[in-house]
Amino acid sequence: FALRLSSPLQGTQPQGTSSQANQPQAGNVWEKWKPGQFVMLRPVNWGFELVTARPFSISTLNDNSLTVFIQVLGRGTERLLDLKIGDAVTVWGPLGTGFATEPNTSTLILAGGVGLAPFVGYIRQHPTPNKIRLEFCHRLPVTCYPFDTLAEKVHADSHQELSVEDREPIFKHLEDIIQSYAANNGLILACGPTPFLKRIQELASKYKARCQLSVETRMACGVGACLGCVVEATGKGKIQTETGKLQACMHGPVFWADEIDF
Ligand code: FES
Repeated sequence: FALRLSSPLQGTQPQGTSSQANQPQAGNVWEKWKPGQFVMLRPVNWGFELVTARPFSISTLNDNSLTVFIQVLGRGTERLLDLKIGDAVTVWGPLGTGFATEPNTSTLILAGGVGLAPFVGYIRQHPTPNKIRLEFCHRLPVTCYPFDTLAEKVHADSHQELSVEDREPIFKHLEDIIQSYAANNGLILACGPTPFLKRIQELASKYKARCQLSVETRMACGVGACLGCVVEATGKGKIQTETGKLQACMHGPVFWADEIDF
């Protein structure tokens, strides 16, 4: 489901302070976000039972609202269903790296399930959305309704050139699409479940495509402290670490496909 958090999206403000002049405006805090970045969310009323915040890709963000997609996977995400209008949520972010934007390059977006989330913002922010083709794949009944709706909305709101295929699994024609974008030096961006990303990574390598992947890992802190989000590095990327590993929260979650090893 999609969760929208609305105003005030402010920086830290001591409780009881009413001065507007001292309040950081939402635009100051959020205006430079890039699709692919994420936030850590924690409802204020969670007790000690659920200590850590949960990570979510930013779908859309503006001065007064933040939207994320939530797939219920455990107790934390389940408890988010209990949120009511007026409940306060602590938000850390925007965190991590975002997707590349190349206005004059044909860009292929491959979104699997909740992996659609960052691309709603990407398409809306992109200076030349007619250069984008979106392929959307999901097979999980639990995600069916809201994502269909949103996919149609992306299609309707953004640009007629968009192609949203929300019923047909795209694996069968993934190879042809990737091959054609690779041949034309296009940019391929993907977000979704790991098997989906692995397949895209294999095909990107086969056809030498320029491809970025947003990986899904467990994240407890979101800021490089817990080592819960380690990703194996291939050593081909710009970032080199002594351990040969990368942290999705700090170095990603968006990586070039040849930088990481699943
Ligand atoms: Fe804790 Fe990345 S989430 S180190």
